[in-house]
Amino acid sequence: MPLRELNARFHHKDQQSFASVYESGRYIGGPYVEQFERQFAVYCGVDKVVSTGNGLDALTLILLAEKELGNLTENAKILLPAHTYIATFLSIIHAGMQPVPVDVSDILLTVDDLKSQIDKVDAIITVDLYGKLVSDEVYAFAAAQQKPVYCDSAQSHGAINSDGKRSGSLARASAFSFYPTKNLGALGDGGAITTDDHVLAAMARKLANYGRDNRFQNSAKGINSRLDPLQAAFLSNRLTLLDQDNLQRSKVAQYYFDHFTNDHVVTANVNFLKHNSWHVFPVFVTDRDHFQDYMMENGIETNVHYPLPPHQQEAFKELNDLSFPQTENLHLTEVSLPCHPLLSPSEIKKVVQVVNNY
Ligand SMILES: Cc1ncc(COP(=O)(O)O)c(C=O)c1O
Repeated sequence: MPLRELNARFHHKDQQSFASVYESGRYIGGPYVEQFERQFAVYCGVDKVVSTGNGLDALTLILLAEKELGNLTENAKILLPAHTYIATFLSIIHAGMQPVPVDVSDILLTVDDLKSQIDKVDAIITVDLYGKLVSDEVYAFAAAQQKPVYCDSAQSHGAINSDGKRSGSLARASAFSFYPTKNLGALGDGGAITTDDHVLAAMARKLANYGRDNRFQNSAKGINSRLDPLQAAFLSNRLTLLDQDNLQRSKVAQYYFDHFTNDHVVTANVNFLKHNSWHVFPVFVTDRDHFQDYMMENGIETNVHYPLPPHQQEAFKELNDLSFPQTENLHLTEVSLPCHPLLSPSEIKKVVQVVNNY
């Protein structure tokens, strides 16, 4: 990911933002944070945005707020896909709840994946992994079972579902990360919660600020997790190009789908092309190391999202005995190909040529 080049597009605006924040004398909260929250709320089509220090905090704070409001209990069982980044698991642990991972039958959670556990859990976290939105059927099924759904939207900024609704507006509350490599990335850490529920938003905001009601009174045990005003200003600059960038990413993805002919390099199902922000373009290759070396020898840098699933990590020893064959296979075989808005037509063609010659 050519982060320097992607950010260079905002050089002038960022310099102005830096000068404005510097001169303002206001370095926590303030107008730039409020402005970005308003802009991101309008963009996502939700009533409320609560900005946070990072995506993990955003997800954790949603669960902590639900606990404080009595909507979820300590030790609540939270269903989530086994195939995700470890942060989804950690948010549940940090909120004092229990992760209930389920295997995925494809790449993201489906209704079938939920069925065996839905009666045993209190809530669900969906994950829009690689930028692809979890299907509307999952939300409808969970609603019919009266289970609240929260979304880990850390990779799906701007993705739109079949009803024209954006990522961030599909669950009871959603969590975004603005880590620099994300489709909407800051120049450091950042995160946000999006929701239509004003009570949940107010509680999350309070918990993100020590649980305080006013300067000297605290009515809950909160944490400190705030979006920096500089990052907020940088994010406002970048939000203006997000749709254009996502369109560019989707054109790259479509081109790959149309031109890959190599059976050894397996793409996601063609449905993956829809409702996707293409944070990552994943392919699945049985001899991953060899393939990555070959791509590198041909001047193409690849990545892996991710090599070892959370339930097999040392950090989650208590889950190490669980077996999720599809998740494990995805983690063993996934390779992320270049897919960003600055790829030139000749670079895209070269990726296709090199992949097809493998
Ligand atoms: C799926 C997913 N969830 C959560 C996170 C956590 O975000 P952050 O790094 O901002 O804490 C990330 C990003 O790293 C992610 O990719």
